[in-house]
Amino acid sequence: MLLKTLSESSGVSGGEQEIRNIIRQQVSPHVEEAETDVLGNLIVRKKGEKEGPTLMIVTHMDEVGMIVVGFEKSGLIKFSKVGGIDDRVLVSKVVQIGPQKIPGVIGAKAIHLQKPEERKKSIKIDDMYIDIGAGSREEAEKKVKLGDYISFITRFEEIGDHCAKGKALDNRVGCAVLIEILKKQNYPYSFYGVFTVQEEVGMRGAGAAAYRIKPDLALVVEGTTAADVVEVKKEGHVTTLGKGPALTIMDASVITHRGMVQFLKKLAEQNGIPYQIRRFTGAGTDAGRIALTREGVPSAVVSVPCRYIHNPAGILNLKDMENTVKLVDVFLKNLPEGGFNNEGID
Ligand code: CO
Repeated sequence: MLLKTLSESSGVSGGEQEIRNIIRQQVSPHVEEAETDVLGNLIVRKKGEKEGPTLMIVTHMDEVGMIVVGFEKSGLIKFSKVGGIDDRVLVSKVVQIGPQKIPGVIGAKAIHLQKPEERKKSIKIDDMYIDIGAGSREEAEKKVKLGDYISFITRFEEIGDHCAKGKALDNRVGCAVLIEILKKQNYPYSFYGVFTVQEEVGMRGAGAAAYRIKPDLALVVEGTTAADVVEVKKEGHVTTLGKGPALTIMDASVITHRGMVQFLKKLAEQNGIPYQIRRFTGAGTDAGRIALTREGVPSAVVSVPCRYIHNPAGILNLKDMENTVKLVDVFLKNLPEGGFNNEGID
């Protein structure tokens, strides 16, 4: 399964080479052009039957992870986080470091060495290290370099009722959706597919890509929080697994284009595709950056709900992913020739 390959490969923000190469290999035979810009965004152009509005479909390929910042004399490795990860999920996780994928374990003082008061507190990242089994700093430095990226090792598996578990589902699921779309037959209009870098450290790739493409409209495909778990009240669920692609009205980065959202809702209803509205206004996506590029870009976000994002393992429903592909597919087939204007805004 393509999502397995994408989920198990590495691509911490700023170090997207491995994931980009896999995506490029997947899409190259199906697109007219494929180019990597100076930041590392992979920009492809899919030829349509004719030229219409300039559309970019955007999905970020980076994931949260860590980076090597130093070595202890003993050979243990000090690290920092890249992107938003809760310190409390790090201890004892198995990781891989650098291009050689050197395996290691995130360690901390074992429970029998902790004082009673220490046991009550969560361990901070400053008190953690990565152990690659090296006997000295010199040994460690032979295998790992300062600035090497670190990602979790998590086996992707299909589990339960149409579900899958794996790491980096935010946003390898978005990559899987866009790859599937790019593999389809030609659509009425040409469009750009953009796999962005550095979203998890502040949507840094998307702005540069949008500036270059000058889109008339943008559709962002994401893996978003599903908080449909026991300790969260229903209104805080954000999205729910199995209820279809989620449409964003507003988050911390963007207020989406009402016309586009209405259009997506109507298409979902007409085509029997389940959908949900994303509740909760926190967090941001590449749409926040793209919408404010140049003179403004009508933008919308379609997300696949994922539980436990930014953790070593998350869970999604594969039917939600399939329905997201369907929704993007009908969007492309029915795109208005004139794009979206400010109708309904003034
Ligand atoms: Co994301």
